[in-house]
Amino acid sequence: MRKPFIAANWKMNKTLGETRSFLTEFIPLVQDVKDIDIIIAPPFTSLQSASELIRNTNIKLSAQDIFYEDKGAYTGAISPVMLKDAGCTYVIIGHSERRQYFKETDEVINKKIKAARQHGLNVIFCIGESLEERESKKTLDILKMEITEGLRDVHLDGVVVAYEPIWAIGTGKTATPEQAQEAHKYIREQLALNYGDRAKEVRILYGGSATPENIDSLMNCEDVDGALVGGASLKADSFARIVKFKRQ
Ligand code: 13P
Repeated sequence: MRKPFIAANWKMNKTLGETRSFLTEFIPLVQDVKDIDIIIAPPFTSLQSASELIRNTNIKLSAQDIFYEDKGAYTGAISPVMLKDAGCTYVIIGHSERRQYFKETDEVINKKIKAARQHGLNVIFCIGESLEERESKKTLDILKMEITEGLRDVHLDGVVVAYEPIWAIGTGKTATPEQAQEAHKYIREQLALNYGDRAKEVRILYGGSATPENIDSLMNCEDVDGALVGGASLKADSFARIVKFKRQ
């Protein structure tokens, strides 16, 4: 059985004070939740503070990005060593917003994944197609290419895959459970080509307008093992309801 995995990607939201208020409210709401990995990914500036607040709780800390060098003249970049120092055990890599606004290529993403794994950080690796690609029936080709390039020479240990159709991110247009299941099943099949039975153990998350209203039906899909939540993770009660999804 794959352990469900629910992660909050706050993106460029929340000051230190807002991070503190969120966690003060959120921690008690989920303290009794067992057998689910609960992850929050605040902006860099809130990592250390969040790390202190979640100590001795069932919540783990993720960064939203990483750079692949350990240290040096890379203005503005944050290394794997620094993320671990700040209390992170996870890092999101390859988010479509990084690909779009920061021009990250599959090659850079692959380097980041390797660097994170070398330092023992777990990776939430994001892939997904644009609306144009879906409409021109290229979804599966895009997923295949992003998996092949992003995970080149990478073992699956410590890697969680997030399927985030770009057209569903922040739009309120969630993928239907059927669309999600089709993509997730395909992703698992692609992983199986390279990694054999190990692919059956990999958690594949859905991301894109996941909410308390649609999480239950998404989590009912056989190959949906969790969610990577943006907007609906910014409020403690809404994210807590997502963490407490119900499968039929
Ligand atoms: P939304 O939940 O706001 O659509 O964002 C999804 C996402 O990009 C999570 O990484």
